[in-house]
Amino acid sequence: MIDRRKFIKTVSALGISLPFVKSNIKAASNPNIKNNPIILCSRGEKWGKKVLKPGWDILKKNGLLLDAIEKSANVTELDPKDTSVGYGGLPNEDGVVQLDAQIMNGPDHNCGSVACLEGIKTPCSVARLVMERTDHIHLVGKGAQDFAKMHGFKVENLLTESTRKIWVKWKENLSDKDDYFPPVDGNYDQDRSTGTINVLGLNPNGDMAGITTTSGLAWKIPGRIGDSPIIGAGLYVDNEVGAVGATGRGEEMIRSCGSFLGVEYMRNGMTAQEACEAVCKRIIDINGGSSKVDFNDKIVALSKNGDVGCASIRERKGDEPTVATWSKKGFKAIKGTYLIEI
Ligand code: GLY
Repeated sequence: MIDRRKFIKTVSALGISLPFVKSNIKAASNPNIKNNPIILCSRGEKWGKKVLKPGWDILKKNGLLLDAIEKSANVTELDPKDTSVGYGGLPNEDGVVQLDAQIMNGPDHNCGSVACLEGIKTPCSVARLVMERTDHIHLVGKGAQDFAKMHGFKVENLLTESTRKIWVKWKENLSDKDDYFPPVDGNYDQDRSTGTINVLGLNPNGDMAGITTTSGLAWKIPGRIGDSPIIGAGLYVDNEVGAVGATGRGEEMIRSCGSFLGVEYMRNGMTAQEACEAVCKRIIDINGGSSKVDFNDKIVALSKNGDVGCASIRERKGDEPTVATWSKKGFKAIKGTYLIEI
């Protein structure tokens, strides 16, 4: 792992592009593809197990891939303890929780997405309905909420007492020139969250699909959409090659078409791990080198033959880039790599 990181840094310093290996992954000729289902999420040990368990149970039982990834993603969406996804996600600057999500199905390249969706706890389930029940791909704001209501979703307050208090503290701490007194219980020092979760899956037939779901950047300007609902930015799936998802600073994933790029890297012969690192490197290059990069993105990948990758742009003390998987071999949390040391 360390060697690979050093390799990337050296290559970067020399200004050399990462090599393209010309051999395409030939899905049909790989004997591992069939009957080796796997489900992956962009989390570590703690969240990974509870997120992947319901998805793996479905995959194991009947191989229904979209049901599996949806049920797994719903775990974080419904859990108020996760402040970066769904119910209990940190709100925008007005204190309103606005959710983004997308789903992509490998076999037919179909996809659906919702953005700035308010009041619905499970945006990825609404994105799935956009994919399956409409001729559109993106629905945003009120239109997305009306569509969800039409399908029986309940509109609820997604701000919990805990996230409301964090938001008030952030607001009171913003400036000493406004009329709010500073927070009574000390300064606000929480990271500006871009948490998010990616769930990627490969079923026993060798078909692939993925979901990305988030409450987006905490304190964002109302109406801001990140990479999570943008096809090719926060997620991309190609049934012949693999799936890639991203978390972290969404604007950079959009500027680089990062998830699509990762899939194309795999199409050109990179492993899932090499593809994740190459996407991070591309983002660093776009920004003019590592000294200019003060944000983070984490990329996860699953190739058509079940090969897994995970890399982030920067090191984060106490929070190494990790990906979790559940397959016939059981649950595994795997440490990835990072390109820039702090
Ligand atoms: N990656 C999540 C966001 O930027 O909204």
